[in-house]
Amino acid sequence: MRKFHIHTFGCQMNERDSERIAAWLSRAGHVPAADEARADLIIINTCSIRKKAEDKVYSLLGRLEKDKRSRPDMILAVAGCVAEQEGENLLRRFPGLNLVFGTHQVGRVAALVEKARAGERVSLVGSLPDADRLEGYRPFHRAPGVSTFVTIMEGCDNWCSYCVVPALRGRELCRPPEEIANEIKSLVETGYREFTLIGQNVNSYRCGNGFSFPGLLRLAAGISGVGRLRFATSHPKDLSPDLIRAFAEIPNLARHIHLPAQSGSNRVLAAMNRRYTREDYLEKVERLRTACPGIAITTDIIIGFPGEEESDFRQTLDLLEEVRFDGSFSFVYSPRPGTRAADLAGPVEGGEGRRRLKIFQDRQDEITLELNQALVGRVHEVLIEGINPRPQTRQAASLTGRDSGNKIVHFPGSPDLIRKITPVRITEAAIHSLRGTIENNLVSS
Ligand code: SAH
Ligand code: SF4
Ligand code: F3S
Repeated sequence: MRKFHIHTFGCQMNERDSERIAAWLSRAGHVPAADEARADLIIINTCSIRKKAEDKVYSLLGRLEKDKRSRPDMILAVAGCVAEQEGENLLRRFPGLNLVFGTHQVGRVAALVEKARAGERVSLVGSLPDADRLEGYRPFHRAPGVSTFVTIMEGCDNWCSYCVVPALRGRELCRPPEEIANEIKSLVETGYREFTLIGQNVNSYRCGNGFSFPGLLRLAAGISGVGRLRFATSHPKDLSPDLIRAFAEIPNLARHIHLPAQSGSNRVLAAMNRRYTREDYLEKVERLRTACPGIAITTDIIIGFPGEEESDFRQTLDLLEEVRFDGSFSFVYSPRPGTRAADLAGPVEGGEGRRRLKIFQDRQDEITLELNQALVGRVHEVLIEGINPRPQTRQAASLTGRDSGNKIVHFPGSPDLIRKITPVRITEAAIHSLRGTIENNLVSS
């Protein structure tokens, strides 16, 4: 039996792509290995969003090439965004590497592995016709669970000046709504309760004559057995009034939006080609909060974009104060090959970037903690996902789940409750999680 192991780096799209790679391999008779050491096929599904992400791939490849000396029959493959970016260069740089396949080639993985087994060193990157791209999504199968990602579209047409994604993931392509619905229905049958619709920019989803993202949300939310629906990621410029209304109207749509702001300075936003202003962003936040009071809002921030002055950075801090994000992912700007920003003047020196990042992150942590502490005493609906791997109490099994705002909640309870949405009274708050107790054992489906 052929056994494979996949290392996954990067975003939710890559996590889902690794599941698709696994599904295609399983169809061709491969099985997942218990661990890397027992695999005769190792695939690294890679990310190139920042230099550090790319470097991690090279150090893992270096280690696996060494391991290969004692396991010469092992096939070593690189997939994902670094594969798309580097193609054959990877084969030249890593003599032990057998196969490189890009972000559009997932559906062909089994055939490519066969070629590599036959002794060929293969690199396949670049775009495919839409029908072939969509074909890559055919196997719906994945390992059982409670919450899962469903890719509704791939690619990105936004060309933010710092970002490699449009070049590495191709043009935006939307999956037809009926396919997405069929995938969700089949996953409900296998026990999934929560679905996160994913894409680089889901709110630009559009299919056929005008079927829009809010329409897709309504369709998915109405499927029997869908306990909760989420989506990621949204671009602020495409956040329509209809989508804002969806938060008020769809009862099982989670009260959370991840809305990357990137910066609070209009000058920097323009240089990033984000196509909204700080004022547009704030107005959308206000509308979201009017339509859906208490909605959790999280964001992504880039610190130290070329030309970012102290005054621009202060405006980003100021945005944080005005919005009071529930949480954020923030990183120092990393110049990426082939992007427009890579040629911009005024780079922010590394130490200065890290100083600004720390100021931003420290303040975000304080705000997150304050917002979480304000939840103590409230009752939240929690979808129970499993057993807390690190319980602090020994008396009862500790369960773990997420509330509608996507906050992690731990509480004592019976494992029979896994997959149920349960009211939990919040009793303690930290930055990364909440603790609570089940309220009156009122358990719905
Ligand atoms: N499609 C999503 C996010 C894609 S990448 C969106 O538009 O919001 C995830 C995050 O990585 C981005 O939101 C951005 O904050 C960050 N990022 C992208 N390119 C980067 C770069 N060159 N340097 C630092 N951070 C970057
Ligand atoms: Fe990158 Fe911008 Fe597209 Fe997001 S919207 S993937 S940041 S180009
Ligand atoms: Fe990384 Fe590619 Fe996702 S660059 S963030 S894995 S789209």
